[in-house]
Formats: sequence, C-alpha cells, structure tokens
Amino acid sequence: MNPVFQYRGGMLFCEDVELQSVAEREGTPCYVYSAAGIRNAYLQYAEGLAGIPHHICYAVKANGNLGVLRHLATLGAGFDIVSGGELYRVLQAGGDPAKVVFSGVGKTREEVEYALEQGIHSFNCESEGEIALISALARRLNKTAAIAIRVNPDVDASTHPYISTGLKEHKFGIDIAEVAAVYETAAALPGLSVQGVSCHIGSQLLDPAPVLEAAQRLLGLIDTLRANGINITDLDLGGGLGVPYQPHESAPDVPGFLARLKQLISGRNLTLFLEPGRSLVASSGALLSRVLYRKQSGQKHFIIVDASMTELIRPALYEAHHEILPLRESKLGTVVADVVGPVCESSDFLATGREVANVMPGDMIAAMTCGAYGFAMASNYNARLRPSEVLVDGATWKQVRRRETLEDLIRGEQNEQNGTA
Ligand code: LLP
Repeated sequence: MNPVFQYRGGMLFCEDVELQSVAEREGTPCYVYSAAGIRNAYLQYAEGLAGIPHHICYAVKANGNLGVLRHLATLGAGFDIVSGGELYRVLQAGGDPAKVVFSGVGKTREEVEYALEQGIHSFNCESEGEIALISALARRLNKTAAIAIRVNPDVDASTHPYISTGLKEHKFGIDIAEVAAVYETAAALPGLSVQGVSCHIGSQLLDPAPVLEAAQRLLGLIDTLRANGINITDLDLGGGLGVPYQPHESAPDVPGFLARLKQLISGRNLTLFLEPGRSLVASSGALLSRVLYRKQSGQKHFIIVDASMTELIRPALYEAHHEILPLRESKLGTVVADVVGPVCESSDFLATGREVANVMPGDMIAAMTCGAYGFAMASNYNARLRPSEVLVDGATWKQVRRRETLEDLIRGEQNEQNGTA
C-alpha cells in the first residue's frame, strides 16, 4: 500500500492524520492530499535530474488547488499551463512565471497576451496559425516570445485511447516529418525566439520506454535544426508517467528513466523540461465519502455514497479503477457491489462489480489515488456543490478549499423576474 496512506489500529491514516476524524469534522465528500507524498514525488524528479540544466514544470491541469501549487512552487517547481486561468492560478499561488511553459492546441489571443505580459518562459506551439499569432502579438507588445514547437513524434504510448496523444492521427503537435519546414518559417518571423522542441505522447504510461523513444527522435530533429542554423536550447518531453491504480500494477522506475534521459542529453547543451502532472500528485490524494444507503436488486448489491461522478469522473469517463477502502476496517467482511453516487446517470459509479468492505450506512470510505484529475475535473452537474479540499502535513491538516455553498451555485446568473438584467 501507498506509504502515505496506511491503516493503524484499524483506522485509515494519511501521514499522521486519522481520516475518519477529518471526514467527521470537514464533512463529505472531501478531497484529502498529502503534502509529504507530493514532496517525495517531486524530489524523486529533482534528485533524478540533479546535475543537468532542467525545469520540472508541474502540469497544473492535474490538480490546480492553490495549496498544492504553492507547495510545489516552494519546492522549486515550474508549471505547465494550458489556459490563462491556469496561469492566473499559478501566479496567485506565488509561482514564478519565468518557469512557466504554455501548452495546448487552442490558445486564444487574450491568453497569449496575458502570458506575454506576465513574462512566461515559453509557448509550446501546435500550429502555424498559432505561431503567426504569437509573433504578431509579441511585436505589438514590443516583446520577444520564446517558443518551442510541439512535435508529434509518431510513437505509440500504448495507454487508454482517450489519453494517448503521440500518434499521427491525434490532434496534437506537428508531424515530425513535416516540422522542419515549420521551424524555418517560424525562425523568419519577427518577435520570436525559436528555441525549443517539445512533445507529450500520452498519459498514465507505466512503461517509460515510449518517452525515451520519443526523446531519441526529438534529439535527431534537434541535430537537423541546429545544422540548419536554428539554435535549439530547450528540450521538453511533456508529462505522462503513470501511477499504480490497482494493487497488481507497479509504478514506473522514475529514477531509472531519469538516469537514461540524462545519458541521452548529456553533452548536448540542452535544458530539459518535463511536465509531470499525475505522477506528482495522484497517489497523494483520496476522496472521502459517506455511505448513504445499501440496497439490493436481485443478486446485485449497491452501496450508495455521497460522492459521485461530479467529484470523480474518471470511472465514468475512462472506466478507471480507484481502490475503495473503508476509513474504519470492517468487521463484516466483504461484499461484491457497485459503489454508486446520487447523480441521475447510469454511468455514475465509483466502482462496479467490485469486492469491497461490507460497509453500512454512516460508514466512511475513501476512493484512492485521486490526487490527479479528481477535483480538477469536478463539476456542478445536478446542482451539486463541489467538495472541500484538505492538505495534510505530518500530524496536522488544513482546509485548502471550502465546500461550495448554495450561493456559489448561482453566482454570476441573472435572476430578474422580468426580462434580462
Ligand atoms: N503536458 C501536456 C501537454 C499534457 O497534455 C498533459 C496531460 C501533461 C503534460 C500531464 O500529463 P500527466 O503527467 O498528468 O500524465 N484526465 C485524464 C488525463 C488527461 C491528460 C491530459 N494531458 C485522466 O484522468 O487520466
């Protein structure tokens, strides 16, 4: 089991905090994150890359809570953003804009201007139209925009089709076979410093071999570009390393992967950028929930809990597996059940046909490995209030986001009786 979540005396702990007491005081559903777990995951990257020029740019999309961002900023992280909103979050959390890379296939004019004004490190560009826009806006603002071009290296990341991105048929990046010409065009545009090559081939990769394969292809491209007079200084390999969600899965060998990367780029005069999201935060998060009801339909058992697809959509969207653990070990054995939420959708489940603790109404459970793409993908569907979030550090914990209120639900809406406002 994950070292930051452990049973002690029959009770589930996060670090030195007993989660039943958090659930009782904070209410449910509630996300809990471990500061130590995030720190350990970050330090694994930082130590693995020590000695070479690098930036670890945490992918904010995985978990953009200000408490999490501030924790990572304090550890020295940079950030990978995909929207102006994520840049705003990073700045609010004290992140350094000079360590920010801006990814994404559809940056708007307003977002590019905001990023230029804030002085981010660079843009990972995905199309010729985007490069032309950044050039024009940088010129107008009298700035030089550093850019990398996101290359599609055409390697198969062998992950879930919804989160694989590195094949020719995907919308991401520019085909490696065609990108040299795009570099030539970009290098001739004003307002740009064309200095990087980037890629991101997919997510939840338990085997890092495809990333190393992509790295090799990108290094070949860098040689070609440099021979053509384009001075590439940055290599960005994106994120993508996975975490074990199921007991039989094992984590990728992060130190081994980083050692291999270091070997590949040593002596090449490059700064390495990585954009890990999930692998920094997923295993450090759990979603706490209370059992509302039990019911049986024929042979089928349902455990109805107060968390749903609005807090954790991954099971519905990707058939993702999250372990379901009781906060107090059950004396009633186990049951094979569907663990479902209150939302009016058949796809509203946290687990189906799963052998879980035989928990009863009032008992608390945790969905594990929810630190990434959990709260970040939460919604207000069915007018549900988004849950609170808590950060544990040692024996203490603090709320880092309050539960939403009914007033939050209608903020920004017009409510006049006659006509519009
Ligand atoms: N960089 C870029 C350009 C990305 O598109 C992503 C993730 C990352 C970095 C971070 O990847 P990570 O290290 O977290 O694998 N919602 C899905 C995951 C979508 C990932 C999208 N891109 C899920 O819940 O599994």
